[in-house]
Amino acid sequence: MKLQENTLFAGRYSLRHILGKGGFSEVWLADDLPTGLLIAIKACVESSADEAAKRAKAFAAEYALTFSLRHENLLLPIFFEVYQDIPCLIMPYCEGGSAGRLVGKLSEQEAWKMMRDVASALDYLHSLEPPLVHCDVKPGNILAGPGGSYLLADFGICRKMNPLTSATEAPERSVGTPAYMSPERFVRGAAPAKASDIFSLGASMYELLTGSAPFGDKGGIQLHKGADLLLIEGDRSPALKDLIMRCLSKDACSRPSAAEIKSAAIAELADKPPAPTNKLRLHLPPILARLNNYQLMLAAWAILAIACLSIIACIALLSSR
Ligand SMILES: Nc1ncnc2c1ncn2[C@@H]1O[C@H](COP(=O)(O)OP(=O)(O)OP(=O)(O)O)[C@@H](O)[C@H]1O
Ligand SMILES: [Mg+2]
Repeated sequence: MKLQENTLFAGRYSLRHILGKGGFSEVWLADDLPTGLLIAIKACVESSADEAAKRAKAFAAEYALTFSLRHENLLLPIFFEVYQDIPCLIMPYCEGGSAGRLVGKLSEQEAWKMMRDVASALDYLHSLEPPLVHCDVKPGNILAGPGGSYLLADFGICRKMNPLTSATEAPERSVGTPAYMSPERFVRGAAPAKASDIFSLGASMYELLTGSAPFGDKGGIQLHKGADLLLIEGDRSPALKDLIMRCLSKDACSRPSAAEIKSAAIAELADKPPAPTNKLRLHLPPILARLNNYQLMLAAWAILAIACLSIIACIALLSSR
């Protein structure tokens, strides 16, 4: 079945338009008729019966794995269902879309905010018992959330870590997006670990700042082949460039933890004054700075009136002598 605009899906979602396509799914914007909310539907369409059954299993597993997670920087599915053989996940809609549209355009301030938010989400996942490794951190899976925050999405290949071996179960086949995958993930039978997510965050930030992923589509395997990583050019701060380059270390142990990245980003953002706005900012005494524009205007008129009355009083006093 092909999804179409302005049709009803699963008896309650009125489809508006397609938001994007992934490897095996389409994401649609829809109105949830009973609640009036805008939602996003990730649906596995136009696949064979076998593939649809596999996807249904994978979506159900993703929904179950993420069901009890709670973090302000995670975008989690709200609901899973299969409608007319189409498996789908219902998600909150993010109006700002994915960070994919910011490639090559990210400002220093936004870069620190994204590092802070994605590292916060990873720190939460990596600190669970047993820890979870996301395994697919990339700009397409970082969405612009409410209030200028960034959310980590898509838990389709997220893995639980084995507490004894400190590694995840090895995936059945090589899964993930090669351009953002760490060197160790290209080793046959190797299982992704926390530091692999950090490499992927570094590769995403590198692409967002420079316009291309560190080794193009080839990913971290190039480090095994002796390739050099080009330095990040441009007028970014040394602190930002250095942190991203540390995330991209060949040696997993040399990469910072998610908690370290989060703290570094929070400290950087606390140091920086808020971005200038177009509004004219007057340096007022603290008591006046708390007033709104209307109150300021009233205060100005009152001061003017008092000044005029004082002048009139002075003139009257002088002329009476
Ligand atoms: N909740 C959402 N709100 C708004 N846009 C979304 C949402 N989820 C996904 N999108 C958009 O749809 C696109 C496709 O998402 P999808 O997860 O299917 O693919 P992908 O992440 O690009 O690739 P992959 O198949 O590897 O996951 C995203 O890049 C994003 O632009
Ligand atoms: Mg995705």
